[in-house]
Amino acid sequence: MTGGRVAGKAALITGAAGGLGQAMARMLVREGAKVALSDLDLNGARALAEAINVDHPGMAFAYEHDVTREDDWVRVVDAAVQDMGGLSILVNNAGIGGQLLWAEQDTLENWRKVQAINLESVMLGCKHAMAPLRASGAGSIVNISSIAGLAAAPGMGAYNATKAAVWLYTKTVALECAKAGWNVRANSVHPVFIKTPILDPFVAMAGGDEANAHEKLARGIPLKRIGEPDDVAYCVLYLASDESKFVTGAEFKIDGGLTAQ
Ligand SMILES: NC(=O)c1ccc[n+]([C@@H]2O[C@H](COP(=O)([O-])OP(=O)(O)OC[C@H]3O[C@@H](n4cnc5c(N)ncnc54)[C@H](O)[C@@H]3O)[C@@H](O)[C@H]2O)c1
Repeated sequence: MTGGRVAGKAALITGAAGGLGQAMARMLVREGAKVALSDLDLNGARALAEAINVDHPGMAFAYEHDVTREDDWVRVVDAAVQDMGGLSILVNNAGIGGQLLWAEQDTLENWRKVQAINLESVMLGCKHAMAPLRASGAGSIVNISSIAGLAAAPGMGAYNATKAAVWLYTKTVALECAKAGWNVRANSVHPVFIKTPILDPFVAMAGGDEANAHEKLARGIPLKRIGEPDDVAYCVLYLASDESKFVTGAEFKIDGGLTAQ
């Protein structure tokens, strides 16, 4: 079934080979957008593009992309614009959990790695995608933060710090675009635990028992379950579409009620 909520649009999704990226890519294509799928994992991005193109020929493109590298951003944005004929949506999605370490045990190596992948990447993406987003006439930046950007947890210092910074930085970009009179919106999305490989460390802590790990993670969530990738993808679809044309500088919690408590 194909809809047209983002018909004619062109999206660059980073970290597209991962759990959330795949769900977003498939949903945006189903709703009419072309997608540029970038990831450190080129084979994963290619496999997804090939699978999408079976049912939607010519709609997906794959690129090798280390989001911490500025030269990669320049190359990938340029290639995506060429291949898709423009760029109207940027989803800064690539991210890692980093090591679970309390402040006293944390290392600069862990800290800097998480900052580079989760935060500096977002700055580089907003910087280098802005010109084509402006040129599209209706651009949308969707930054994937986390509920961990709004609420802290022991052992998650580096991750909390990056995701909180992404939350406020998104508002800065939104206000700059508005002030300049550009029709480019920027919003952040804040998921709680969603079933993707990023939860693997929690599964390992539960002795490899995935169902048990997910059940433990769900305990503190009012809806008593963790999320599915499509729960996040639907929010990204809304923010990417013109349905959200009056929405900018906002944050969207996909958290089963966690932060309502
Ligand atoms: N799944 C969750 O529970 C959850 C909750 C809140 C926020 N998030 C956020 O959602 C985003 C996507 O996470 P996911 O759950 O799909 O995780 P995932 O591990 O399935 O996917 C992450 C992807 O990012 C890629 N990546 C890692 N380093 C990269 C780099 N330097 N350059 C380019 N790509 C790189 C990986 O190859 C992988 O494909 C992340 O920003 C994450 O912090 C996830």
